[in-house]
Amino acid sequence: MYVSHLMDAIDDIDTYKRYGKIVRVVGLMIESKGPEASVGEVCVIHSSPKKDETILAEVVGFSEEKVLLMPYSEITDISPGCLVEATGDPLQVKVGRGMVGQVLDSLGRSMYETASLKGLRPYPTDQSPPNPLSRPPIEEPIQVGVRSIDTLLTVGKGQRVGIFAGSGVGKSTLMGMIARNSGADINVIALIGERGREVREFIERDLGEEGLKKSIVVVATSDQPALMRIKGAYTATAISEYFRDLGYDVNLMMDSVTRVAMAQREVGLATGEPPTTKGYTPSVFAILPKLLERTGTNASGSITAFYTVLVDGDDMNEPIADTVRGILDGHFVLDRKLAEQGQFPAINVLKSISRVMNHVADKEHLEAAVRMRNLLATYEENQELIQIGAYRKGSSKEVDEAIQYHPKLISFLKQGTHEPVRNVEAVEQLIQLVGRGGQG
Ligand SMILES: Nc1ncnc2c1ncn2[C@@H]1O[C@H](COP(=O)(O)OP(=O)(O)OP(=O)(O)O)[C@@H](O)[C@H]1O
Ligand SMILES: [Mg+2]
Repeated sequence: MYVSHLMDAIDDIDTYKRYGKIVRVVGLMIESKGPEASVGEVCVIHSSPKKDETILAEVVGFSEEKVLLMPYSEITDISPGCLVEATGDPLQVKVGRGMVGQVLDSLGRSMYETASLKGLRPYPTDQSPPNPLSRPPIEEPIQVGVRSIDTLLTVGKGQRVGIFAGSGVGKSTLMGMIARNSGADINVIALIGERGREVREFIERDLGEEGLKKSIVVVATSDQPALMRIKGAYTATAISEYFRDLGYDVNLMMDSVTRVAMAQREVGLATGEPPTTKGYTPSVFAILPKLLERTGTNASGSITAFYTVLVDGDDMNEPIADTVRGILDGHFVLDRKLAEQGQFPAINVLKSISRVMNHVADKEHLEAAVRMRNLLATYEENQELIQIGAYRKGSSKEVDEAIQYHPKLISFLKQGTHEPVRNVEAVEQLIQLVGRGGQG
């Protein structure tokens, strides 16, 4: 019995090694004759025989008889005729509990030189989203730990939200706050396409020791090859999926999904795809939903996800922003105007929405939130009149009330970076502040 089992295993072993030879390198694209491999498969390129160094590359397409590969690292020491060996598998990373508190690269290797991770097991980075019918609906709120979000934009366990912002309005600071304060069991943070300097700043200043203790950070800086930046997003998502399957409530934060789209555009253009809107290729719009649908709930656990989207000059109709907004269950807009006025976190509540809030918050909370929104909206509509002193007190009861409430509402929305907030208490404060069901 045991022997036959082994015999079967021997039968299953693929003892052939499939090789090809490099014929051309154009920019980042490597063309080889052979090996027999499919798209997405990892190949090992053996550089000049003297040095015997290897480079990992992935099959990204075919052109007539040739295989198109893109490297995971810089191309060095490659010459015509170098051997390309097919591994037969798509990219896998090793994952496990040992990763918590670590900073990893896109292939899941620790970036601390001294660290060696133990007890990990291989896990594919590219997975299909869970079957829509097996996904439990989102019914429970999760504490984010940011007062304005927990009260006015309540997030559900397994909800996926986009954070839309320009540069320098507080994305990293906000992500650090969420990582430290949220009610999730574990944070997976993907930093994609950031400058190298910002990575350390984020880990030490925004996340801090306290945040890192329950986080796994995956880093692919802007100088990395395009494929590595894309893989960083896949690896971080795969790590989240691994912990979700173990029953955890995971928080995934990806900064930024725009940079992932840009990296995919680079790959797409190099493989000869036609550019469409803003030069983005069709594959960009194909991978985004596939990637973003992988998070959310499944039968075992949940991944609550925050994806940052870069918007230049508040252009929310930019193609990536528009696509991402359509896929996710909510969008939070960080407003430069608020940041300039020193209102941090600079979330523009009136422009933001959480599409599951109605399902996860109770009636009293919802009513108070609607009232607060109305007060803010009334003030904003009349802001110019009020500020130039053209509004005369007594002209409108609503506006009078909005003016009276305004300073209190703003100080409620402001929150210091290191000020922890519990969601239950924040909701109570909100109800106290604007009154129950509308009678101040
Ligand atoms: N909650 C806050 N309280 C006080 N100041 C804040 C807060 N959030 C952000 N800031 C200020 O805004 C600046 C920029 O924030 P941050 O680095 O988080 O922005 P970013 O959107 O990540 O920027 P980039 O686009 O460069 O990555 C910070 O240096 C800080 O001074
Ligand atoms: Mg930042």
